[in-house]
Amino acid sequence: MLVLAVESSCDDSAAALMDGPVVLAERSRSQEEHAGHGGVVPEIASRLHLDVLPGIATAVLEEAGVDLHEVDAFAATAGPGLAGSLLVGLSWTKAAAMACRKPFLGINHLAAHLCIHYGGERAVSFPAIALLASGGHTCIFLMRSWTRIEMLGGTRDDAAGEAFDKVAKMMGLGFPGGAELDALAAQGDPDAVRLTMPLPDPATPEFSFSGLKTAVRLLLEKGTDHRDLAASFNSSVAGLLAAKTAFQARAHCARSVVAAGGVSANSALRRALEKAFPGPRPELFLPDMPMATDNAVMVGRAAASVLDSAPLAQSGYSCNAFARWDGEVLETLVV
Ligand code: KG4
Ligand code: ZN
Repeated sequence: MLVLAVESSCDDSAAALMDGPVVLAERSRSQEEHAGHGGVVPEIASRLHLDVLPGIATAVLEEAGVDLHEVDAFAATAGPGLAGSLLVGLSWTKAAAMACRKPFLGINHLAAHLCIHYGGERAVSFPAIALLASGGHTCIFLMRSWTRIEMLGGTRDDAAGEAFDKVAKMMGLGFPGGAELDALAAQGDPDAVRLTMPLPDPATPEFSFSGLKTAVRLLLEKGTDHRDLAASFNSSVAGLLAAKTAFQARAHCARSVVAAGGVSANSALRRALEKAFPGPRPELFLPDMPMATDNAVMVGRAAASVLDSAPLAQSGYSCNAFARWDGEVLETLVV
């Protein structure tokens, strides 16, 4: 079954042509235009999606040698994310689905991040504990199946990626600064600086990252070496995320642990998770590097996970965009 999947929730315009969970072609364009603004400017983001998405989708179809009318179903991120950005991808994809008289699936972006692990060479077994750490979210989920996903806890304020970006900005690095801060950390000594983490108890599946900014600012004012500070920040956040994930994995007798979202590209987090879960049970699933951050393959795999269990599932053409998700049960398909 051929699905054309589109992602435009923030500052990445992406499309993928999928045959079930298998990628036939995929392309994405990251909006570097925001770098000088120190954050994503919503209107610039929407207008860039409007400019580039049709070209990206066309290029994906051409690369796969598939005509738009041969696509069996269309999927796009419906939320959470920036409303204007979401509306562009959602409208384009719904229009394509309507023109071809094919089903449309609106996909929850958070579930899509987790679904990057759907249909891979190794199968995720359930129950699974999922750590989703991105620029907008930091949550721990209990996955009973691909379609039954419950939130165990999230962040009370900033997301982990947001904390990375803000600290990176204070150090004069680019935006988004998570990957740059991670690289700088490799040159420093994580034990040279002590950072106290809020909500440190591994048994508490909640996070708070907003206070770290002040701690980092004070250390920078004291002249602390940027490399050591980056190393300490990297390993403290990674250690906390891994410890909380490990606690929930034990508490729920998890058979798998999955990590997803932009921060799951972080080298210290990947090392901490590999150390916490040396295998074989629970089995650890880390996303391939380019698939940790926003992409359309995860939207396509989320659609595949829905269609494999309910082949007639669809959202309907009136599916709307939503900026926030505050639920406790994560539904992959938005109806
Ligand atoms: O999943 P994502 O692409 O977008 C959201 O859904 O938010 O995540 C982007 C976030 C940014 O905050 C970025 O700085 C962070 O992921 N990130 C990293 C790394 N690579 C990307 N944070 C820490 N270490 C990295 N290597
Ligand atoms: Zn994301």
